[in-house]
Amino acid sequence: MTEDRDNFGYSDYTVYKQMHLQAILQTHLRVCEAVFRKNDWPHKIYHYFDLHAGPGLYRHNGRIIKGSPMLFLDAWMAVGLNCRAVFFEIEDDRRTALIKNLSVILRRTPLNISVAFHGDHLKFLPCYFDQDAQRPRKKFGLIYADPSGSLPPFELLARFFEGKGYSTLDVLLYCSPTNLKRQLKASTCPVQKRLGDYLELIPKRHWIVREPYGPHQWTFLIGTNWTDFPTFERLGFYRWDSARGKEIFDQLNFTREELAA
Ligand SMILES: C[S@@+](CC[C@H](N)C(=O)[O-])C[C@H]1O[C@@H](n2cnc3c(N)ncnc32)[C@H](O)[C@@H]1O
Repeated sequence: MTEDRDNFGYSDYTVYKQMHLQAILQTHLRVCEAVFRKNDWPHKIYHYFDLHAGPGLYRHNGRIIKGSPMLFLDAWMAVGLNCRAVFFEIEDDRRTALIKNLSVILRRTPLNISVAFHGDHLKFLPCYFDQDAQRPRKKFGLIYADPSGSLPPFELLARFFEGKGYSTLDVLLYCSPTNLKRQLKASTCPVQKRLGDYLELIPKRHWIVREPYGPHQWTFLIGTNWTDFPTFERLGFYRWDSARGKEIFDQLNFTREELAA
């Protein structure tokens, strides 16, 4: 079990992150299960990519916290779709802990899943790019990015979604736009792009955003091409073309001074 001293960015808001992630995964798997049941055209395997997997389980203040890989397995086992899950974790110790933690569960499940573990997603995600330029079967599932303080790998995600087979795969990001806004004004290496510019790199027609939490404005962003994607309003998520969604996007894109001007 990974201990507190190895904590990788646990904050007061992590508990909400894990709660909301669990709700998103459960609903997403159920919706995909219904699509597979009713249609012949999709590739009937749920694809899950976790770009920042962590150790799977860790201890914080004496409590055991389930990380995203564990939450995914819990949600997947309740639905039981054929599945391919790919976990990326750059730190060797955490990746070893993750393999150990997941194998305890995977050994016991009779369900059909293939699992792969890799290090740096920048190096290994390209192994999963969809090279089929013709008419690939549409793949359903989710790619999740949960960096601690840095930006999600937007350019990498843009290249991933060039694959036509992934147009039906959704993207989930957890990030802090405050850090990005601070970099806009940094004296060294200022960035030129705002959150909205980065999101535009990813070819998704709809974005759903969660109310930001805390001074770092921790938020979830869901990118999808499904017009009827569930919105999770009871958890504080809004489509970006709704009135509240637009307000939140402005808050995330612009500094307080810019909004007041
Ligand atoms: C905030 S933690 C992820 C927490 C995890 N999603 C969870 O719910 O428990 C971010 C993790 O991403 C890993 N990481 C950072 N850069 C990475 C990269 N380029 N490739 C793979 N893993 C990376 C870090 O080592 C760290 O364990």
